[in-house]
Amino acid sequence: MHTGSNDETPSEATSSTITATVVSDGGTAGAEGADDVTLDPWGSSAVSDYEKLFTEFGIETFDDVLPSVPNPHYLMRRGVVFGHREYGPVAEALRNNDPAAALSGFMPTGDPHIGHKLVFDEIIWHQQRGADAYALIADLEAHAARGLTWSEIDEHARNYLLSLLALGFDPESGEIYRQSENRKLQNFAFELGSKANFSEFEGIYGFDSETNVAYMQSVITQMADILYPQLEEPKPTVIPVGPDQDPHVRFARDLAARMRFFKVTEAYASFELTDSERELVTAVYDERELYAEDASRPRCAEAATWLTDHLMISTGESGERVEGSENTQDGDTHISIDTVGIVVPDTVVESTIEKLENAGMEPLRPRVRFLDANATDEAFDALITAIEGEKRRYDEHIDAFELSAADATELAREVETNHGGYGFVAPSSTYHRFMTGLTGGKMSSSVPASHISLLDDPEKGYEKVKAATTGGRETAEKQRELGGKADECPVYELFAYLLANDDDLLVTEVYDECVSGDRLCGNCKEQAAELMQAFLEEHQEKRKEVQSLLDDLDISLTSDRRSIAPGDTTDTDSTDNEDN
Ligand code: TRP
Ligand code: SF4
Repeated sequence: MHTGSNDETPSEATSSTITATVVSDGGTAGAEGADDVTLDPWGSSAVSDYEKLFTEFGIETFDDVLPSVPNPHYLMRRGVVFGHREYGPVAEALRNNDPAAALSGFMPTGDPHIGHKLVFDEIIWHQQRGADAYALIADLEAHAARGLTWSEIDEHARNYLLSLLALGFDPESGEIYRQSENRKLQNFAFELGSKANFSEFEGIYGFDSETNVAYMQSVITQMADILYPQLEEPKPTVIPVGPDQDPHVRFARDLAARMRFFKVTEAYASFELTDSERELVTAVYDERELYAEDASRPRCAEAATWLTDHLMISTGESGERVEGSENTQDGDTHISIDTVGIVVPDTVVESTIEKLENAGMEPLRPRVRFLDANATDEAFDALITAIEGEKRRYDEHIDAFELSAADATELAREVETNHGGYGFVAPSSTYHRFMTGLTGGKMSSSVPASHISLLDDPEKGYEKVKAATTGGRETAEKQRELGGKADECPVYELFAYLLANDDDLLVTEVYDECVSGDRLCGNCKEQAAELMQAFLEEHQEKRKEVQSLLDDLDISLTSDRRSIAPGDTTDTDSTDNEDN
């Protein structure tokens, strides 16, 4: 997330400067140039620049958490799962056998294909490591956002579930549901709706006055899906999805926070600080020996004076306080605090100094603060009683002077759950790369040759691979001389994402032989095509075997809802979002 000018907005979903937006004609609003990356849950799922997802959207690289994941899945090891939001707590829970959950949802708009398999595999992997696993059929969304009829939805739903079960999802320990049938989910979605405003739907998704209401209901239903694993008890929960779903994840993280009884922050005095103001005050507090008459009791006013005297504006055209020569971004003030130097926008410096000055002789003293957000009176009172050590009670908050931030967070959750609250942990996510289409470009269900359905005839699958575009050179001689371009080859991707399964050696072998020119595309595709055929044969065999598991599920695959085509006022670009 950005620090600085917009950190007054506590909302993760709305504070991003580039927000994924869908406009009512199905186009993507906010795309100013071809290079702009937008994350659009209902639009194109091609991502041209994964790098930008880190820098512009604050998605973290999966490499950072990989070492803490116990026996990572091959999709994680190979960088197919490339990003995450706060996956650390989930990895930790898996390591310690603590409660954790994994949930993802599938819009039954067509046949399940090899892109969906990535997500099936991720859910199943978490389940096998002890997490509560959930898979849901997003039929309300398919109906509202894609306009599918209920009989179409029923058929597709069946096919998704058979593949999920065939790949190893255990329905005994896990839960499968359809949005349309889950009363508990819908009740909760209704509650969540009271925390979400229409303006956010506009800001995050580009909804406008023409957007049909069912579409909005399907969004709030997805928010409920994401928090569903925590309805009984809070626990780290991962939502494995494609990056196009990130706007949903951010919104759900916001809503989870808004449902909490208390917000825990850190403060230094009676007034509130934004994140960047706090960073500055922390730095100033650390230097208290330099300016406080009594270092055990630095005063806000002393800090304000000292801070004012130690500012260096390096870009300032205004000139007044220019002392330094460091290059900072335009408009930023470089604050040199002896050895510590931090760069903060001057608006933050000004507001911080003002707050410190206004507090005058009040001591500057670190503390954790519990802000009352939705707490009942009893919960508020119970929290006060539960806080150990020195504490101070105000109207809307409680300050505790002897608690660490981590202990405070835990205590707040405990009091909340003991008093009828949910105590949600912010949901985590992982993001996987989208597979390249077999014909080059992106995979799209409207171009059957571009993707392989899990229902494709095995021979058909063989043929599609044989006909795939490659990263090979024009001639065999050139290939031997220059090597192939495995990084741009959909066939190589098939090995890495699916065909090699757990066999990392095979993936490395294909790659190395390809780029060194030892491997030619004809044989390479033959090998891949055979593996694909075998995979499809085996998978379809398993689908037959799990038929009885499906029949045993407490889920209806014959909706008795009547279909009236929804208004066509929403996104009409319904064909290309195939890889979540
Ligand atoms: N919106 C998702 C899609 O387009 C489906 C979905 C619904 C989902 N609820 C979810 C995904 C919850 C992850 C978590 O396919
Ligand atoms: Fe792709 Fe295989 Fe050809 Fe390399 S040899 S470009 S991996 S098909």
